Amino acid sequence: MRISFSEAKEKLLSGNVVAVPTETVYGLAACLHATPAIQQIFTLKGRPANNPLIIHLPDFSSINTYATSLPSSLEALSHAFWPGPLTLILSANLEKIPFPVRAGLPTVAFRVPSHPLALKLLKEVGPLVMPSANKSGSPSATHPDHIQTDFGIDFPILDGGACSHGVESTILFHENNHWKIVRQGALTKESLGSVLGYVPEISNGNSSKPLCPGQLYRHYAPKAKLYLDSTQCTTVVGFSDRTYPNAKRVFILGHSSDPEQVATHLYAVLRQLDLEAIEEASVDMNFPQSGLWSTISERLHKAAKS
Ligand code: TXA
Ligand code: MG
Repeated sequence: MRISFSEAKEKLLSGNVVAVPTETVYGLAACLHATPAIQQIFTLKGRPANNPLIIHLPDFSSINTYATSLPSSLEALSHAFWPGPLTLILSANLEKIPFPVRAGLPTVAFRVPSHPLALKLLKEVGPLVMPSANKSGSPSATHPDHIQTDFGIDFPILDGGACSHGVESTILFHENNHWKIVRQGALTKESLGSVLGYVPEISNGNSSKPLCPGQLYRHYAPKAKLYLDSTQCTTVVGFSDRTYPNAKRVFILGHSSDPEQVATHLYAVLRQLDLEAIEEASVDMNFPQSGLWSTISERLHKAAKS
């Protein structure tokens, strides 16, 4: 159910959950101190309680209230990339951040999104927690229709159209005076390197105790079995400028020279496989591994994991 901006604002302020557009993917939003609504987010998503939420802020300055021991490079990063698709994990001010939001961790994740509707809401309502607006394990929602599929036609959605990036924010974790990427995303490591003076390494911690708890769970996956080899199946997920002689059906991600376009379509294509009850599909993985392609590749590898 599409709702207006003022309805979304009123619902959030009275302790309800609303789907809100961001430039990366849609989020399921609740006010930072609305404990029942936060609990409802975990229930709605089927999200384990040990998987913390990102706090979305209206601007950089409000971070002083919620984080402690701010690294010196924080200002340069936030100046370059906020508002935008970057999430930073910092030491939490434990008194200001409810336990379930940080899943009991001493750290907390922050982001200032750039979508005009999200920013306006944050300015008028205050900080919002927002995980991606999908059932845990399913591809994220990049269009209101995806939210209706996961949560039903009556679920309240602030409609901001299709998300411009189409993949989640890049998450950085600060350790030993260095930033590490704990989730690849819409912001590339090369762009981060140009501001930090070093290209941050991609680090998942160890497999039983990842730096980012979300890495523990199956992610971004359609029901179809995906094969990362474009010749295995007669259904192919591929590119508009290529031909697939053995394919009976091709789902188009976009042009093979345009990773931004491919990222925008990625989750919609994975969701379309489910809508058409496709059981198996091959994915054309013949693309570079740098820049945004690296994020696209990581998502497809996770989607293919059974
Ligand atoms: O683009 C995005 O980041 C979207 C939009 C809505 O802002 N949000 C999003 O949230 O992707 P979610 O909850 O789907 O993914 C957040 C990830 C999870 O994998 C979680 O484990 C990790 O961030 N995370 C949150 N707080 C953390 C913390 N304190 N330490 C480590 N990882 C954390
Ligand atoms: Mg998510």
